[in-house]
Amino acid sequence: MRTLAELDVQDRRVLVRVDFNVPLSDGQVVDDTRIRAELPTLRELRRRGARLILVSHLGRPQDREPDLSLAPVAERLSQLLDVEVTLAPGVVGEQVRALVQALAPGDVLMLENVRYEPGETDNDPALARALAELADVYIDDAFGAAHRAHASTEGVAHHLPAAAGPLLEREVRVLGGLLDAPQHPLVAIVGGAKVTDKVGVIERFLALAERLLIGGAMCFPFLRAQGHDVGSSLCEAEGVEPARAALQRARQATGELELPVDLVIGERLAADAAHRVLEGVEVPDGWMGLDIGPATARRYAEVIGGARTVFWNGPMGAFELEPFAAGTRAVAQAVAANPGTTVVGGGDSVAALARFGLEREVTHLSTGGGAALELLEGRPLPGVEALS
Ligand code: 3PG
Repeated sequence: MRTLAELDVQDRRVLVRVDFNVPLSDGQVVDDTRIRAELPTLRELRRRGARLILVSHLGRPQDREPDLSLAPVAERLSQLLDVEVTLAPGVVGEQVRALVQALAPGDVLMLENVRYEPGETDNDPALARALAELADVYIDDAFGAAHRAHASTEGVAHHLPAAAGPLLEREVRVLGGLLDAPQHPLVAIVGGAKVTDKVGVIERFLALAERLLIGGAMCFPFLRAQGHDVGSSLCEAEGVEPARAALQRARQATGELELPVDLVIGERLAADAAHRVLEGVEVPDGWMGLDIGPATARRYAEVIGGARTVFWNGPMGAFELEPFAAGTRAVAQAVAANPGTTVVGGGDSVAALARFGLEREVTHLSTGGGAALELLEGRPLPGVEALS
């Protein structure tokens, strides 16, 4: 991969693909982690005299929904970067070209949501060319979108001198390093709701890691596959067979797969719901498992404590509700306390670390959800391939 350091950007129009697909509520950015993560790249480009044209998607618009405008993101970026960020009224076209022409070195222009253009997700060559015509150089720093072969993440790279931005480069180096040369013991903790999203990663870590710890609602397809009652727990029906297959494979794998041995159960998913610790994992009718139990949390923390490399993706329970936060908190604290290499990926686990004030205590916080999982599965990322 060519890197930003190898490109001359002085006075040049630099099209930077960023992933500012951030959660919004009432027209405000509610989690600006991805914007903050991009600041060092943007500061470096401004310091080196580039004229910046930022391009990002936001959500999955079907018909240019106004509430998916990047306006709140441009405003938040402007506050964080402490410079004016102009939001273009569209992605390509006459008005956009005029705004680009007017850019001076150090200026920042943000194009509107690139998915307002239907050609984006189709990787339409005409849109890729039109984007390329706006700039002299293309920098891809959108690691979170690198698993998408879209016009602004893949197509455009074939029309301009292209390089990886520092954020994308670091993500690929750190996550790739987990696969290539991890220090052992390697422990992976995988949680969250859906096992079908993570089967590939589970398989990968069964082959690579000494231990794979499962938590979150995705433990229920595993427990059901073992014949346990899951009560009213959120249990992905299509996940049961893949979970059974993973359990089967775990018998021959190097890595040991561990499931919860106790749970915190509640009558409903609500902070004021009746709840209690369940010894064992037979969830009674009318109750749902909403967190790993204290014995599991202690066990997982001990395993994490003995690791030299840790990868964590997905919370252990409904941590946003205090009665069900203890398992995720224990895992977060154990990951944060580990002096080895600790890598955390996925919006929910990153949000959990932030909630417990531990986001600075890990080696690497990945900005990629799906992209990080695909990289760890060993699948080529189109956004990265296009830069080689
Ligand atoms: C993400 O949030 O995972 C990326 O921005 C990709 O978004 P997408 O799943 O809508 O392509």
